[in-house]
Amino acid sequence: MDHFLYRNGELYAEDVPVAEIAAAVGTPFYVYSQVTLLRHYQLFKEALAGLDNLVCFAVKAASNQAILTALAKAGAGMDVVSMGEYLRARAAGVPGERIVFSGVGKTAEEMRTALRGGIRQFNVESEPEMEVLNAVALDLGVVAPIAVRVNPDVDARTHAKIATGKSENKFGIPIARAREVYARAAGLKGLEVVGIDVHIGSQLTDLEPFELAFAKVAELTDALRADGHDIRRLDLGGGLGIPYTQSNEAPPLPFDYGALIKRTVGHLGCEIEIEPGRLIAGNAGLMVSRVIYVKRGEGRDFLILDAAMNDLVRPAMYEAHHDIIPVDEPAPGVEEHPFDIVGPVCETGDTFARHRLMPPVHAGDLIAFRSAGAYGAVMASEYNTRPLVPEVMVNGDQFAVIRRRPSFDEIINRDTIPEWL
Ligand code: LLP
Repeated sequence: MDHFLYRNGELYAEDVPVAEIAAAVGTPFYVYSQVTLLRHYQLFKEALAGLDNLVCFAVKAASNQAILTALAKAGAGMDVVSMGEYLRARAAGVPGERIVFSGVGKTAEEMRTALRGGIRQFNVESEPEMEVLNAVALDLGVVAPIAVRVNPDVDARTHAKIATGKSENKFGIPIARAREVYARAAGLKGLEVVGIDVHIGSQLTDLEPFELAFAKVAELTDALRADGHDIRRLDLGGGLGIPYTQSNEAPPLPFDYGALIKRTVGHLGCEIEIEPGRLIAGNAGLMVSRVIYVKRGEGRDFLILDAAMNDLVRPAMYEAHHDIIPVDEPAPGVEEHPFDIVGPVCETGDTFARHRLMPPVHAGDLIAFRSAGAYGAVMASEYNTRPLVPEVMVNGDQFAVIRRRPSFDEIINRDTIPEWL
C-alpha cells in the first residue's frame, strides 16, 4: 500500500503531481511519501501490540534527516551501524535509549561516542569486539548494555548478497557457542548482558526462516536464563520483504510477522525490538527520471534515461527488479513494446531492466521507478561525476526538498590539489 497513484491521467505522490516536483527540482530525484512511511511504521506497531516493543528503523535503508525526524516524532527507535548513522539519529531527536548499535566492525571511537551520547544497547558480533567495548566502557567509567548477535545458521532464502544468517556469513557468533560467549561477557565488568540479537537477512518473502530463527532464540533464552543471565530483551532484526512488482505474490504482512513473533517468543516476557528498514521506506519512495533518448537498435530498442546505476544501484548490484512506469498514465489497452532501460554511465552494467514491456514512451517523458525508497538514495554515488540525486518529501498537498542537488562547483571544490602540483 502506498500513495503513488494515477489521478487525472498523471502520477501523483500523495496530492502532488510528480510532474510538478520534476519541474521544480529537475530530474532525476527521489520522492518520499510521508504518509506511507508513517503508515508502514504504524503497521509494525499494530502488529506488535500487546508486547512490550520498540520498532527501531534501520537507518541504513533511508537516512535522510527528514525521514528520520518524521519517524522519530512518531516514536520510532533507530538501528544504526556507524558513527554517522548514530549522529544522524541523535540529530533527528532520537534519544539514546531508543538507539541500538549493530554492525560487525564497530570501532572504539564509535563505541565511545555512543556511550557518551546515550545508547540502548550494542549488538555485539564477536568476542574481540566484546573485549574492546569492555575496555572502552571501563575507561569511561560506565557499563555498556549488550545483546550478543547470534548466527542461527538459517537459510533466509533471499539474494546471496543480502543473506546474513548462515554460518558462512560474517555476522554474529555461532549459536552453538552462545552460552560460552555469554559466560565470558558476564565476567567483563564493563558490560551488562541485557538480551539476544538475531538478524538473518533482508527481503525475506517467506516467514519460515524467521520462524526457525526465532524458535532457536527462544530456546537460547531459556538456556541462558538457566545459566543465570538476565535476558530481558530480544532484538529480532529486520528483513521482512516488500512487493517489488504489482503482479507478484504478496510477501507476508507485518501483521503475520507480528503474530509469528508472539507465537515464537511472546511467552518469554521479554521486551521485543525489531529493526525493519525496507518495509518502512521501500514502497514509500520513487525515483523519477526523464527519458533522454529512445534509441532503436538492432534486435532491441533502448530507453536511455537521465538516471543511472550511480543513482539507483540495486538492479546493477543485485539484479533487482523495480517496476518502471510512465508518469503520464498510459491509455488503457495501449500496445506495449519491449525496451532495455539504461542510464548514461559508460558501463554495460548500467542497465535497469532488459526487455521490459513499456507503453509508448518518448524522449522528454518522465518515468518513475517504484519501490525505490529503501537502499536507493543511500546507496547512490557520484560515479561519472554525476551529482547525488536530490530528495523530496511529500506530505498531503505540500512538498519540500529534503536534500538539494549539489552544484558542480561544490563537487569540484571538495577536492584539494597538493601544493607540489
Ligand atoms: N538490521 C540489520 C542488522 C541489518 O543488517 C539490516 C539490513 C536491517 C536490520 C534491515 O533490514 P531490512 O528490514 O531493510 O530488510 N542494500 C540491500 C539490502 C541490504 C540489507 C542490509 N542489512 C538491498 O538493496 O537490497
